[in-house]
Amino acid sequence: MDCVVWWARIDDYRPELDSLLSPVESARAARLRQPEDRVRQVLGAALLRLAAASQTEASAGAVVVDRTCSRCAEAHGRPTLPGTGLHASITHSGGLVGLALTRAAPVGLDVERVSGIDIEGLSPSVLHASERAESPNPSGFLTYWTRKEAVVKTTGDGLNTALADVQVTGPMDPAALLSYPGRARLPAYLADLHPAEGYRAAVAILTAAPVGVLERPASRLLCALPFSP
Ligand SMILES: CC(C)(COP(=O)(O)OP(=O)(O)OC[C@H]1O[C@@H](n2cnc3c(N)ncnc32)[C@H](O)[C@@H]1OP(=O)(O)O)[C@@H](O)C(=O)NCCC(=O)NCCS
Repeated sequence: MDCVVWWARIDDYRPELDSLLSPVESARAARLRQPEDRVRQVLGAALLRLAAASQTEASAGAVVVDRTCSRCAEAHGRPTLPGTGLHASITHSGGLVGLALTRAAPVGLDVERVSGIDIEGLSPSVLHASERAESPNPSGFLTYWTRKEAVVKTTGDGLNTALADVQVTGPMDPAALLSYPGRARLPAYLADLHPAEGYRAAVAILTAAPVGVLERPASRLLCALPFSP
């Protein structure tokens, strides 16, 4: 079973995409102060609906998205697509927005921009003591980070599970989950991705079976809107 990862650039944003969002999603986006944060959030929500619509009978605007937070019931949690058999994950960083969609099992996607990261400051919260001892370079550090954040997004725990307590293989080795706190045998298929120059990304899928991962530019999907030129 495959997993498709769509990559959009913030330049792909068009105001028409706003009309795809639910009132709750629109209100959330409107509360963001920085225009770039708003664009990233709208692009993620629109991509989710367009990609799900391409796999179901629903039109993009009619796709039902549940974002109920498992901790407080506000609509800011992990997005699910009830009744479709589809699993999705959204990520954004800098100029990129990603969406992973699969029928295989719950999925987690993470992208990070390489420039401007404070490795020294972040290492204690991201790297396990044994990983810190390797003193990874910025690329290696972000390989660890994205692999781990992809995994905590598959479980829905997010950063409630400390990344430093999740162990994954090192940057020179094929991506794999080694241990997850409190879950002795968490099956996870993990893969590094190639979103764009200057970014690192990884996807995790909660299954022991290998999954074919396809990366695609989202421009074609975003042009599928009926009112696009
Ligand atoms: C999920 C999380 C790791 C993402 O971190 P981030 O730096 O914002 O990174 P990303 O851009 O990669 O991901 C953001 C996306 O993750 C998704 N997301 C939110 N909560 C999630 C969760 N618990 N599990 C998986 N995905 C989640 C959303 O789709 C969000 O994007 P959107 O709101 O635009 O749709 C982080 O936000 C987190 O840990 N959230 C949970 C914290 C929590 O439980 N708080 C309690 C609130 S009451």
